[in-house]
Amino acid sequence: MTTSNQIQNSFDKKANIYENFNIIQKIVSKAVVRDIKNEPKKILELGCGSGQIYKQIHWEIKQYKAVDFSQIMCDQHPKDKNLQVVLANFDDTNFLKILKNERYDYVVSSSALQWSNNIDNLLKILQKISPNIAIAMFTSNTFKNIFDITKKISPILDKNSIKKRFDKYFLCEYETHNYKLKFENKKDIFRFIKNSGVSAGVKLNFIEAKNLWQNYDKDYLQFEVIYINTNTK
Ligand SMILES: C[S@@+](CC[C@H](N)C(=O)[O-])C[C@H]1O[C@@H](n2cnc3c(N)ncnc32)[C@H](O)[C@@H]1O
Repeated sequence: MTTSNQIQNSFDKKANIYENFNIIQKIVSKAVVRDIKNEPKKILELGCGSGQIYKQIHWEIKQYKAVDFSQIMCDQHPKDKNLQVVLANFDDTNFLKILKNERYDYVVSSSALQWSNNIDNLLKILQKISPNIAIAMFTSNTFKNIFDITKKISPILDKNSIKKRFDKYFLCEYETHNYKLKFENKKDIFRFIKNSGVSAGVKLNFIEAKNLWQNYDKDYLQFEVIYINTNTK
């Protein structure tokens, strides 16, 4: 099981070089912003990172709360007059206690909620504080080829388990997209895994890493992303 601390350390360590390794996250965050309907004025973002979502919002905002538990990511986030960047763990009980009393038009999140330790609990609160969500998260089919070789189990949820949890609290529309990121050589593939900030679950000892290196015969990495939007029809 990957702990919150492991994930936090992984993002803190990589935060400075993360910008160069977040090609997929950039594509995903663009799609999340495209999915936001009716130019909402009060937005909560969970796992904001260095501000991929905020940078793409082109309409006027009254209140934007951007939450991330990595100090370095928060430091890199843009600063603005109606924007509050909050250093917090979105699974933390005290954080959720405060959040429960707030109200938003939209909750957005891109490439972050797959790391929640208790997504049920989080969604229960999100349902109370906002009528709408636009969320994208990685599924367990991300790095599938790697998990097939290492025989490790992905630490993140599969798409059906994600849908089941969201269906409990929101009326949602889902779209799943598969992405392949091509590389020139194997070294670049392994460097990407190490530096992209999505590697927290892939912990290998020397023998396992050697076995993976010898048996990984693809020139790409695969990612599966589920897009979750409230059905506003
Ligand atoms: C892959 S990055 C995505 C960042 C940004 N949303 C984007 O699209 O570029 C995931 C972010 O979620 C944050 N994160 C992961 N787990 C978190 C948690 N439990 N509480 C707060 N932030 C978390 C990480 O620090 C990191 O900045």
